[in-house]
Amino acid sequence: MRRSLIGIAGLLFGLVLAAPGIAEEPRPGKAAVASAHGLATDTGHEILQAGGNAFDAAVAVSAALAVVEPASSGIGGGGFWLLHRASDGHSIMVDGRETAPSEAYRDMYLDEDGEVNRDLAINGPLAAGIPGAPAAWAHIVEEYGQLDLATVLAPAIRLAREGFPVDEKYRRLMGWRDDVVKRYPEAAEIFLVDGEIPELGHTLVQEDLARTLEKLAENGPDGFYKGELARKMVESVRGAGGIWSAEDLASYQVAEREPVRTSLRGHELLTASPPSSGGIAIAQILNMVEPWDLSEKTRVERIHLLSEAMRRAYRDRALYLGDPDFAEIPSEMLLSPHYAAGLRSTIRTDRATPSAMLAADAELEFAESDNTSHFSLMDDDGNLVSATLTINLPYGSGFVAEGTGVLLNNEMDDFAAAPGEPNAYGLIGFAANAIEPGKRMLSSMSPAIVLGPERTAVLGTPGGSRIITMVLLGILDFMDGNGPESWVSSPRFHHQYQPDEISLEPDFLTEEEISELQSLGHEVTTRDRTWGNMHGVMWNRETGQVEAASDPRWEEGSSRVE
Ligand code: GLY
Repeated sequence: MRRSLIGIAGLLFGLVLAAPGIAEEPRPGKAAVASAHGLATDTGHEILQAGGNAFDAAVAVSAALAVVEPASSGIGGGGFWLLHRASDGHSIMVDGRETAPSEAYRDMYLDEDGEVNRDLAINGPLAAGIPGAPAAWAHIVEEYGQLDLATVLAPAIRLAREGFPVDEKYRRLMGWRDDVVKRYPEAAEIFLVDGEIPELGHTLVQEDLARTLEKLAENGPDGFYKGELARKMVESVRGAGGIWSAEDLASYQVAEREPVRTSLRGHELLTASPPSSGGIAIAQILNMVEPWDLSEKTRVERIHLLSEAMRRAYRDRALYLGDPDFAEIPSEMLLSPHYAAGLRSTIRTDRATPSAMLAADAELEFAESDNTSHFSLMDDDGNLVSATLTINLPYGSGFVAEGTGVLLNNEMDDFAAAPGEPNAYGLIGFAANAIEPGKRMLSSMSPAIVLGPERTAVLGTPGGSRIITMVLLGILDFMDGNGPESWVSSPRFHHQYQPDEISLEPDFLTEEEISELQSLGHEVTTRDRTWGNMHGVMWNRETGQVEAASDPRWEEGSSRVE
């Protein structure tokens, strides 16, 4: 009897809440976009003002970044778009990761002595996976948007045709890759001026790319993956030593995947699932440190404990993670609190565990890089997008398919070219991430959304292997009550199992604190520059405040609430 009374009361309460105009769900009432480029952020707001929702705007921003930040992402690459729909709470990860061509094979980058040919693995068309970005853009607009693809892509087409001013970041990243770009006349013609890095402010026009975007806008994915454009790409790739086929392009499929979901002190954390390693690694680290009140610890204690958890999560990344459509990923085990408790019990508070004492050891070099792009976006209804996009190293493979303006990724290097052999980020992998035809290479991209009772956060960053730890630190900062200005600018540290070292951003710790870490047994390296380029947005339901911030260490980044 008591139960049925409660049931009726609940039903009546539900009806009252559902009655129009009585108790509506709160909505932000403002939109926020934070991306790596002002013109891309503008594009997001432009599409929102044209009647698009966050999902339309996300595709517009992705396509604009492909034009104005060609070093970092593009139509010839891929990414993960984490979507959260406010109306029904539906959350999903759109996986537009590149796939290995059908002629790819496990040892394709090994020379006759069994050594990895690093040049082939990162430069030129043999390094390129089949792009996923165009299929993902079309899928997001079709399934979740309110506008059509042609409307959403129009700003990017305009930017490609009219050009954009070359900025400091373009020049700096090209300084790293211009030797490779010079090898390929089509790429050099577009991205260099008379073989030199363009001057600051030079207007960079990409007419072929504008036409390629138009084909996608007019014909949907078939405009890119089939027909004349596909034929041109395959011909050009094969002519320069690559292995793409028409069938590889025609059969590319975007995937929808359940995000990794983690509970965090009354908040729900959504992050990227495999073939990204980010979500599982972040969840593992959070589970390992869960019983410790890190805010009560000194900086040294906090960095020590988190580094020990990072070390263990990156070891598991190397051992277990890869494309879930090909490799058996023990997600249940890796995400289990019991498994985390077992790992935690191996962490000493007074001593670092040498990585060599944990299985899967290998001697690695640590590589620096600034590549990939992230943006965070929220519309005035509270729809959310956290998207991380990439063509891998700056300017990808350096190769542009003739007559298409499509700069190809060099994402094949995210596979383990040989067991335990480091890639460009010093990351290792084994069978789960070995090269196989049609397989997606393991990624570190970790777009994240945190849904809390009072505050909602959207965040992410580029930065290769360090993406995972940067997003982790951003989430912890959010959980400590801070907003996006703080997440994007806080100093960072990183441990990735191998090399066995804590790396620090410059001017972070005092000499004394560094000595304390060393006395715990840590190798500590202070890098000569910062890393990452985080962009975040936050909505505080209690105050109604909407905030957005971009990493101040990059001038080109831009965040705006409207
Ligand atoms: N290409 C970098 C990543 O996906 O992690």
